[in-house]
Amino acid sequence: MLVAESQVDGRERALVECAAPSLFPPHVSCVAVRFPASPPASALAVLPRELADARPERQAAYLAGRHCAVRALDALGLPPFAPPYDGPNRPPVWPAAAVGSITHTGSYAAAAVARAENAVAIGLDAEGLVSDRRARGVATLVAHHEEMDVARRAGLSLGEALTVLFSIKEAAFKCVYPIGRTYFGYLDAKVECPARRRGSGAGGTASD
Ligand SMILES: CC(C)(COP(=O)(O)OP(=O)(O)OC[C@H]1O[C@@H](n2cnc3c(N)ncnc32)[C@H](O)[C@@H]1OP(=O)(O)O)[C@@H](O)C(=O)NCCC(=O)NCCS
Repeated sequence: MLVAESQVDGRERALVECAAPSLFPPHVSCVAVRFPASPPASALAVLPRELADARPERQAAYLAGRHCAVRALDALGLPPFAPPYDGPNRPPVWPAAAVGSITHTGSYAAAAVARAENAVAIGLDAEGLVSDRRARGVATLVAHHEEMDVARRAGLSLGEALTVLFSIKEAAFKCVYPIGRTYFGYLDAKVECPARRRGSGAGGTASD
């Protein structure tokens, strides 16, 4: 479903599907949307109890992510089922036949899903661009010097480099955490592949 003339003051007034990131192999179904700052009243009934009193932005983000998940499952021929919420900082609970990942930032949400026989896990993350000023303050908390050097040598600004590395690490965490249920921090992971493409999203699958 693609709807034109859907923005008011630069924000969506309805949930609209947009081009999904082409980060994944063909067996991964990826759906992305732009969504409004607050959810329609008609959707509130399907929110999990924990989010009943959450800010409207959080409710809207949750619902947009679930919309993407349902559509991505459907595209794989799996029952279009919204994965239940398992609490803050917990992975969504996917049906046994599927693995997947959800992200939302600002007014953008996306989900990537694969059949469980094709992938062990998926990590997907989207981030708004971090400013150079902010990146200067937090770079050492997120990235090793070598990682920043590689990203800067590829032509990224400080903010772009930090955003890409942060997003890759968040995607990696979302991919790996559901397998071992082990928490690890940004400096526990090391990105060794130079980021050649500009962008503010990251995704990957674990297949063995
Ligand atoms: C969990 C975490 C990665 C979420 O990332 P985020 O950029 O804050 O948020 P996003 O919008 O991109 O993703 C949120 C979605 O991720 C999913 N998610 C939450 N916790 C998750 C986890 N532990 N594992 C997998 N997916 C998770 C959920 O679907 C969530 O959306 P929902 O609450 O509406 O269901 C982040 O909050 C976090 O805890 N990071 C610290 C751990 C980390 O990244 N370490 C780096 C290792 S290199």
